Amino acid sequence: MQQCLKTRPTDIFLASFPKSGTTWLKAMIFATLTRTNRSIDQHPLHTHNPHQCVMFMDVGFATGRSQIIENIPSPRVMSTHLPYFLLPDSITESNCRIVYVWRDPKDVLVSMWYFVQKILGGADKIATFDQYYKNFYEGLNSFGPIRNHVHVLGYWEESKRRPEKILFLKYENILQEPVKCAKQLAHFLGCPYSEAEENQGVVEQIVELCSIKMLKDLNVNKDGYPVTTGEYISNAYYFRKGDEAGDWKSHMTQEMAERFDTMIEEKFKGSGLHI
Ligand code: A3P
Repeated sequence: MQQCLKTRPTDIFLASFPKSGTTWLKAMIFATLTRTNRSIDQHPLHTHNPHQCVMFMDVGFATGRSQIIENIPSPRVMSTHLPYFLLPDSITESNCRIVYVWRDPKDVLVSMWYFVQKILGGADKIATFDQYYKNFYEGLNSFGPIRNHVHVLGYWEESKRRPEKILFLKYENILQEPVKCAKQLAHFLGCPYSEAEENQGVVEQIVELCSIKMLKDLNVNKDGYPVTTGEYISNAYYFRKGDEAGDWKSHMTQEMAERFDTMIEEKFKGSGLHI
């Protein structure tokens, strides 16, 4: 992918660490870009899982399906879980826009634990939560050790340097102020909401369309498999709680949480980023 991906100036990339809100942002970006040519009631998100609407480009390349990526009409939207420093030069050296979504790593950990259980078919097949926590704390997790924060810091620093290139969003902020974030996203993507759209409540409709409440109950998201993630991850696995922040409180003791936060804050020193 690093050698072969040819970007187009209109390409948009969604980057995230797994379990940070990828599915949500795929829906938001797709719905924002396609809002003018479709009525919200008949929107493809009613019948397609967000992962079918926006493909993981890394999985596409890894499974020999890069031609699908080539064939996507412009403006293409693609997603990746790669850290910034591993992105192809054709992305980092271009002016293509990147949206990065970040989430409290403690909730990422909890979400990942449940996700892995679903993939493997039950709690008895993976570590207990305490063991899973310990592994995460020590940096033993997929997609790069969360404890060194290379993933988030790479995008964070680049978003400070080039805010027109990278929009850095926090999952918790979107939950708190979805309309404000939806407007910020549309503005960044180059298709801001018009006054008429705002007056007609289009922003609220897009937010509602992409909410977990709405998406989770759709037939398409109760079953089936997204093309790129393969047949071991059901569409349904991408939706769990999602409507409130801080599920870690039901899984970690105060001491576990503080230990985790201290480790994170240590790495963030001087960066301006905080949980
Ligand atoms: P929880 O397991 O904490 O509920 P990803 O999409 O990166 O795999 O992240 C999955 C997490 O995002 C899950 O978190 C899931 O429930 C949540 N999620 C999925 N769709 C969402 C949406 N539309 N709005 C808010 N959260 C959503």
